This record gives sequence, structure tokens and C-alpha cells, in this order.
Amino acid sequence: MAEVVIVETPDAAGEVAADEIEQLVRSNPRAVLGLATGSTPLTTWRALAARKLDLTQVRGFALDEYVGLPVGHPESYRSVISREVVEPLGLTPSLVRVPADSGPIETAGVDYEAAITAAGGVDLQVLGIGSTGHIGFNEPGSSFASLTRVKTLTEQTRRDNARFFDSPDDVPVHCITQGLGTIMRARHLVLLAFGAGKAAALAGAVEGPVTASLPGSAIQLHARVTVIVDEAAASQLAYADYYRYAWANRLDWEKL
Ligand code: GLP
Repeated sequence: MAEVVIVETPDAAGEVAADEIEQLVRSNPRAVLGLATGSTPLTTWRALAARKLDLTQVRGFALDEYVGLPVGHPESYRSVISREVVEPLGLTPSLVRVPADSGPIETAGVDYEAAITAAGGVDLQVLGIGSTGHIGFNEPGSSFASLTRVKTLTEQTRRDNARFFDSPDDVPVHCITQGLGTIMRARHLVLLAFGAGKAAALAGAVEGPVTASLPGSAIQLHARVTVIVDEAAASQLAYADYYRYAWANRLDWEKL
């Protein structure tokens, strides 16, 4: 079962996620982080930046990227990762990859998988969850064995992400995303979710049937998952009281 940590606010969640990342990086300064975009991980990046750790040797792999945006577009995930993660955390730009950041799109998925493998795999993957239940950009129906590949976004996800663009029509139709199989190979998954709008998708991911119809439910098949959520996102969890009880009673050696 995933460890589910329910906290009051997104800021508090960011501190818990930053604790996990700090512990990893202190034990391995060359750790490989899986980096997520979206609004959800922002409190994690902020909490981590405030700790002023030396992260210059950390390697990073972004989860996903839009296909079809001009190079340098401010909402390309390459730009977002540079602005919100690489710069504030002091990562080394050349050590951070984003899907399709070099070479032709046709082979970008295979190239990305090879790069992750060459780095020794992802140690800790930060994840948000979309309202469709997607992780990365793995929309409903994605194979649990899928690897990095080009996908078509659902209309719902395009609507959800329209807030970042001048017009809903500007949201790309296609993306390239690590697959569910790629994500499942990471050694530790840290999934964050905030707000009532994520409550149904989160409950499905953590407690619902394991199904490609809710891609986030793949996390139930992973041996090491930390789910960190605020009260609103936790509101549809059937076992919320048990998760709170387990967290309050964690053993000393489990505390970071
Ligand atoms: C986006 C990203 C996901 C992200 C999710 C939630 O489309 N591709 O990686 O987790 O949707 O976004 P947000 O955190 O902004 O709610």
C-alpha cells in the first residue's frame, strides 16, 4: 500500500516532499530525480530551494513535454522546468533532460528511455495527477507497460491546461510523455495532489481498482510510493483516518 500523508496545506506537503528529496540527495549527491511540471509540485520546489542544498550534481529527467510548441515558448515544459526547477534549485542545466529535447520526434521516446537507463534509472519521481487521472501525460487507456512516446491529449486535459495559454486553441494537441512503464521503474514515487478538484482522481488512484481507465492507479503496483495530499484532495479517501493514524504512529526509524 502507498504511504498516504495528509497535511493541512500545499506548503506543508511541499515540506514533506522536500524532506524525501533532501534525504535522497544527502545520501547520493548524484541522485536522479524525475521532475514534474504543473502547479502541484511548486511548493516542493520552493521548500527545496529554501534549504540551499548543493544540487549541482543531481541529474534530472522531466516527465513530459508538449509537441508542436516553438522552441523557447514560455509554456514548453523545457522552459517551465528551467524557470521553476533548474534555476531556483541550482541544478546544472546540462544534467537535466526533457523528452524530445534533441533529435527527431520519431525516435525521441527511444532516445529518452536510453538516456534514463544510462543514468542508472530514476531514484525518485515526483508526480502530480490530472483530473482525468493521468500521471505524466498518460491519459486514460494508457498501457501499464508503456514507455516514453508521443500521445494525443484529451480535450479535458487541454481545457485544464488552457489557463497557461492565451487561448484554449493554443494548447497543443500532442505531447510526449514517459510511459506508465517508465514511471513504474523509478525506485520511489512521490505523488502530490491538492484541492477538491483532484479528490476523485486521487481516491481512484490510491484506492480504486487498478485500471488503465485511471492511469494513476498504476501506483498501487509499485512497492514504494509516498502520496502527499491536502485535506481537500483527501476528502474522498475511504481510509483517510487510517492513513492519519499510521502517519501519527510511524516508528522512529521511519521518520526523516
Ligand atoms: C499536467 C502535467 C502533469 C501534471 C498534471 C496536473 O497536464 N502533464 O504532469 O501532474 O497535468 O497539473 P497541475 O499540477 O497543474 O494540476
